[in-house]
Amino acid sequence: MKVTVVGAGAVGASCAEYIAIKDFADEIVLVDIKEGFAEGKAMDLMQTASLNGFDSTITGTTGDYAKTAGSDVAVITSGIPRKPGMTREELIGINAGIVKEVSENLIKHSPDVIIIVVSNPMDTMTYLAAKSTGLPKNRIIGMGGALDSARFKYRLAEAIGCPQSDISGMVIGGHSDTGMVPLIEKATRNSVPVTEFLTADQQAEVVEATKVGGATLTKLLGTSAWYAPGAAVSELVRAIALDSKKMFPCSALLDGEYGLSDLCIGVPVIIGKNGIEKIVEIELSDAEKEKLTASAEGVRKTNGDLKL
Ligand code: NAI
Repeated sequence: MKVTVVGAGAVGASCAEYIAIKDFADEIVLVDIKEGFAEGKAMDLMQTASLNGFDSTITGTTGDYAKTAGSDVAVITSGIPRKPGMTREELIGINAGIVKEVSENLIKHSPDVIIIVVSNPMDTMTYLAAKSTGLPKNRIIGMGGALDSARFKYRLAEAIGCPQSDISGMVIGGHSDTGMVPLIEKATRNSVPVTEFLTADQQAEVVEATKVGGATLTKLLGTSAWYAPGAAVSELVRAIALDSKKMFPCSALLDGEYGLSDLCIGVPVIIGKNGIEKIVEIELSDAEKEKLTASAEGVRKTNGDLKL
């Protein structure tokens, strides 16, 4: 498998590193606009191959998309991240132009590619990539819910005082502080509802901490996070590479599912060799449905700022 990662910054490099360490890809190509940056990151990462024990090759290029030709998967992380106090939506002005140009360049050289969009505001950037490339909807995946769900599990395990591996849980909805819908009533610890371990106040705290998970890190780091985002992307790429048909919440172009159409928003999907193999419609309570609908309104409002 050949994977291209556009943007060799914090998230792109972390994602390339996890993909390399997990050792399922033959070739990883990093692309950046900053002269020599992707080449440097690729060389640094390649010098970890004997230490970390992987056989994937990693190369870098300053904007030469011919080197990405024949990619099976491309991850778009190019664009600016938020600074403390900013919302993801505020990044649209700069990132929309970058995501449009990058996705068009990618499909010129890799017509069969599956694109994973990471750049923020992610749901709107995923919609933009879908519209500007015209790719079938199974081949455009937005990464947000896989990360938000990992942050939800971290918060749940911390509140309960148990290992994260005991926890199952999912966050659907838009990838924004107000749009995320952590499904706390469906989350479990070893198949027992987490609501049996946490008071109503604790549950509310976990939900809130999950929704502002990115902002909390941005405040601490001065820029947005990269390890968990990179790891989350690598798991989506691995599910495609291994055709594992695992379920992740991802931003997908909806066509009537959950009563929503013509927008990309986080819903549970099955990921396999064709990208989004299926959108899974889980039973939502009235309260969950209401939150998803409100979240969709927020995403639509941001989509309205796109010049399509
Ligand atoms: P960064 O600033 O470290 O890296 C971005 C890289 O993109 C830079 O190296 C820059 O030179 C490059 N770039 C800019 N324009 C380009 C172009 N036209 N072609 C190729 N490369 C270009 O930023 P970071 O922290 O890696 O974040 C990247 C994006 O991912 C941001 O928009 C951020 O908000 C988003 N993000 C999304 C997450 C999610 O869950 N969806 C999680 C974390 C970050």
